[in-house]
Amino acid sequence: MNNRSEFSSKLGFVLAAAGSAVGLGNIWRFPYLAAKYGGGLFLLIYIFFVVTFGFAIMMVEIAIGRKTKLSPIGAYKALHTKYSFIGIIASLVAFLILPYYSVIGGWVIKYFVTFLTGGQAATANDTFFVTFITSPLQPVLWQIVFVLATLAVVWRGVKDGIEKASKILMPMLVVLSVGVALYALTLPGAFEGVKYFLIPDFSRFSVQAVLAALGQMFYSLSLAMGVMITYGSYLNKDDDLEKSVKQIEFFDAGIAILAGFMIIPAVFAFSGGDEAALNAGPGLMFVTLPKVFDTMGMSALVGGIFFLLVLFAALTSAISLMEAVVSTVCDQFKFSRKKSALIVAFTAIILGIPSSLGNGIWSHFTVMNMAFLDLMDFITNAVLMPIGALLTCIFIGYVIGVDAIVDEVKKSSQFKREKVFRIMIKYVAPICIIAILISSVLSAFGIIVL
Ligand code: PHE
Repeated sequence: MNNRSEFSSKLGFVLAAAGSAVGLGNIWRFPYLAAKYGGGLFLLIYIFFVVTFGFAIMMVEIAIGRKTKLSPIGAYKALHTKYSFIGIIASLVAFLILPYYSVIGGWVIKYFVTFLTGGQAATANDTFFVTFITSPLQPVLWQIVFVLATLAVVWRGVKDGIEKASKILMPMLVVLSVGVALYALTLPGAFEGVKYFLIPDFSRFSVQAVLAALGQMFYSLSLAMGVMITYGSYLNKDDDLEKSVKQIEFFDAGIAILAGFMIIPAVFAFSGGDEAALNAGPGLMFVTLPKVFDTMGMSALVGGIFFLLVLFAALTSAISLMEAVVSTVCDQFKFSRKKSALIVAFTAIILGIPSSLGNGIWSHFTVMNMAFLDLMDFITNAVLMPIGALLTCIFIGYVIGVDAIVDEVKKSSQFKREKVFRIMIKYVAPICIIAILISSVLSAFGIIVL
């Protein structure tokens, strides 16, 4: 495949990959997990995982992509004819995440538009969120808008679509995040929240916190979903892989920490230091935060900017998910990019509908007590993703050998952390991934509480 598209620069690649990594996971999920599992302690554990396993697995995925210049299924097949099924799992995860991620992306657009059009007071109302997500038509329409926005970028291809969009959206995302975080820090009472977020309280150490940090790390870095393989396949042979991975991780952790600054002190100040207010799960972003905004001066502006930055983060992640599936369809069926993109966008819309309606008129349909959206989230993140990651480690560590990856990395630069990398892939990562897999399945069956 010598006519494969490429990013025009390492910066383009890093911004696109960071765009994939930085998403709803950083802005909504990270602060809520940090608040739940001991603030500063969670942050420490998280960063430890990012620079160890996260680093190792991301190196593997990008190197596989660059080495084979193929999307996930073809890439694994090129490495070993019997192992294309690992690529199938990865592509399947991306294919299944895209629809429900788009449903939440649609919610974000709805909130942004509501703030923009002066409806912010209504969003602070207790029933606003529930009334919206349970209605049959509105959330589906916003989900379609979100998918079409994603399609518009993927349609234009790697350089003119993904790279260009990332180069515009990511710097704006950083500026807006810094702005909102600084503003949040000036609120009266915010300092207590900052202390809670940054100072580790070791007495709150728990196995659950460790497992939650591990799971969050995989999700947040977009690992085990074929995304980094796909983006790696568009990477130039001369670009330094190790440096790129460090920059992507820095971006991802940086935005997660900024999101902590935006949300934790503000909610702390709002609730008078009550941690329970942070523990609202999905409601944190869509129910609690609008109430917090409502107490501020310039609430329409601050809230509007906040939802705009969340939208940018969600869009660049959805773009990477769609691209992973589109490039697979292009490679496997030899369809053109445009045809593949249309097919994928259409299926994402159709498959997203049950996730949307599951909150409302189809809410009686549950599996293991989960509504459709939660079920999809569970199957992808808690089951398929760890299985895919585990198979990848075993495949690299014991089937083709770590050298295959190390050699690829060394084609363009030295590999400074080669030793850590080898130990992670062969020993530490597989054991930890098995732990996540067992714990998430047990928690889904209510045997342990995560
Ligand atoms: N990393 C993204 C986030 O933090 C989610 C995502 C997962 C994006 C998988 C792409 C692929 O929200």
